[in-house]
Amino acid sequence: MKPDIAIVADLPAVTGAALDAEFTVHRVSRADTTAAALSPIADRIRAIVTSGFRGMTAALMDALPKTEIIASFGVGYDSIDIAAAQARGIRVTNTPDVLTDDVADLALSLLLDAARGITAADRYVRAGRWPTGPYPLGRSVTGKTLGILGLGRIGKAIAARAQACGMKIAYHNRHPRSDVDYPYYPDAVALATVTDFLVLAAPGGAATRHVVDAAVLRALGRDGMLINIARGSLVDETALIAALQNGDIAGAALDVYAREPEVPAALIAMDHVVLLPHVGSATVETRQAMGQLVVDNLRAHFSGAPLLTPVV
Ligand code: 8YV
Repeated sequence: MKPDIAIVADLPAVTGAALDAEFTVHRVSRADTTAAALSPIADRIRAIVTSGFRGMTAALMDALPKTEIIASFGVGYDSIDIAAAQARGIRVTNTPDVLTDDVADLALSLLLDAARGITAADRYVRAGRWPTGPYPLGRSVTGKTLGILGLGRIGKAIAARAQACGMKIAYHNRHPRSDVDYPYYPDAVALATVTDFLVLAAPGGAATRHVVDAAVLRALGRDGMLINIARGSLVDETALIAALQNGDIAGAALDVYAREPEVPAALIAMDHVVLLPHVGSATVETRQAMGQLVVDNLRAHFSGAPLLTPVV
């Protein structure tokens, strides 16, 4: 008998096919996540596949009370109620490591775009404005300081790339790391004060909510730029919009937002802001690897083997 599982996330087709081969799969749309809609399968579902985007509430765990494991497609698990899972004895897995390089590449792309105005210059050409005069000068990254807030796996991969561009690295983290010799700063304001480009690579959640506020943006300064590939919740978006509008910082490049997929009109209206639709891990190769890790964690669970990438 194949175990019954519920999928509430959008997954690559190849991952869906792999799950279909090993499990009895129930695909649950967002509209169908009420207890009433789930009741016909409530006594059968032993695993739920979700994502950072879809998350997992205690209410959904209660609507599927036979759930043993939640396998999330994504490294960040701030949208999953981990305490509720633990209280119910439900295991949780995520997909670290396999996405590190792609997310770090995207961070570097955003950094270079913010500094050189790549996408804005592209708009300039497409709008036929080149004949009216040269595009305004950008900023060098070579020799500048990249402040990294959150020096985990992804933060370190960003640092390696930025060093290859001749940048100096500084960081803030919950704790100083013993495996790097970059200068450590005890809080976000102290880091922003010495930083030309501030990149956010810390997990989301209560501990990091609005860690970038008006004071941090002031410390980043009029020539400073913010890059966020982590979670929108790290930034006080209202303060960021004001800082960009007032020239308190020089620009921003964002892959994540406070209320995705909504992007504030005020950000869209500004040409010195780069806006991406949360695509840090969005390559064919990495999304397939993330999906495979979801499959492998479920397979391990149901065969009694240790989970590959447990969160709890
Ligand atoms: C995914 C992410 O887009 O891994 C993460 O934490 O934010 C992204 O890789 C997301 O999990 C898919 O919903």
